[in-house]
Amino acid sequence: MMSTPKISSPVLEAKDIVKHFKVKDGRVARAIDGVSFELMPGETLGLIGESGCGKSTLARVLSRLEEPTGGTIHIKGQDITHLSHRQMIPVRQNCQMIFQDAVSSLNPRANAGELVAEPLRIHRLVPKSEIKDRVAELFKGVGLNPDMMTRYPHEMSGGQCQRVNIARAISLNPDIIIADEAVSALDVSIQAQVINLLGDIQSRMGLSYIFITHDMAVVGVISHRIAVMYLGKFVEYSTKAEIIRNPLHPYTQALLDASPIPNPSRSKRQRQIVRGELPSPISPPSGCHFHPRCPKATELCKTEKPVLREVLPGHMVSCHLV
Ligand SMILES: Nc1ncnc2c1ncn2[C@@H]1O[C@H](COP(=O)(O)OP(=O)(O)OP(=O)(O)O)[C@@H](O)[C@H]1O
Ligand code: SF4
Ligand SMILES: [Mg+2]
Repeated sequence: MMSTPKISSPVLEAKDIVKHFKVKDGRVARAIDGVSFELMPGETLGLIGESGCGKSTLARVLSRLEEPTGGTIHIKGQDITHLSHRQMIPVRQNCQMIFQDAVSSLNPRANAGELVAEPLRIHRLVPKSEIKDRVAELFKGVGLNPDMMTRYPHEMSGGQCQRVNIARAISLNPDIIIADEAVSALDVSIQAQVINLLGDIQSRMGLSYIFITHDMAVVGVISHRIAVMYLGKFVEYSTKAEIIRNPLHPYTQALLDASPIPNPSRSKRQRQIVRGELPSPISPPSGCHFHPRCPKATELCKTEKPVLREVLPGHMVSCHLV
């Protein structure tokens, strides 16, 4: 069968990304242990996994806030893996990050208008005389009344502050936004509004997101594709529909079982809960890293590492039983 021709090239390509941290006694934490994926224009990749599995480290490596220990990162075809700080300036403009703590991400001494104007000034994207109008436009674009421009971060709600962070990020017209738990600290109703806003912005601007969360319900709404991470590796990676309808890795199944989203695959198998705690990436278990917690583990799982492979078209899983 002929493969579907690629209609466009990826905005971001990560190949075999490894990030080791040296910890005490000369030991090493393998925070990211060989991650590869492609992010397409207009695509949202949801990155999910429990606390400590390496989501933020991957985000920080992709945006070069951390040096990768191994692997390569291409953004729009350019190898950015070893660019200098100076060379990274235009790349940073094109690849923005939004963090969980909306209020403390903002300079408390600047008002909302100044905060949104700042990136435009620094990068000289708009003539001085047009900055005010552009800021007002950006406010409207993120659902904030331009009257809010005089407010300081402590005078705004978490949701409003996150809208200011989003306005700052999109002001530079990036191709990529990496959102690390960007809605996790917000009330559920506000979460939904911010997720809708991100969806609207994506349709308007055609940008791509890497959307990091530990919440399956959130990732199930916003993503086109989902990567499930466990101890620094992708253990399952496919379209959202496949992951939700046909989860094949026992860890993904357990994450879905623990989430409130309707899960048609659940009735076909016994409900699973992830037992125990995530092991340390300093001394990961032998064989399949998930084996001490996996309800389906066999003897083979204790000794043999499963490899991430394509088991159905576009559906990657690393499990001996799949
Ligand atoms: N600077 C560092 N030095 C040593 N170990 C680190 C460092 N940063 C992260 N780690 C380790 O790397 C692993 C992954 O951490 P990371 O923060 O990326 O996880 P996460 O998936 O983002 O978790 P959370 O959901 O809690 O945000 C953890 O074991 C963490 O302790
Ligand atoms: S390889 Fe074995 S331990 Fe790992 S997820 Fe599959 S069944 Fe479970
Ligand atoms: Mg994190």
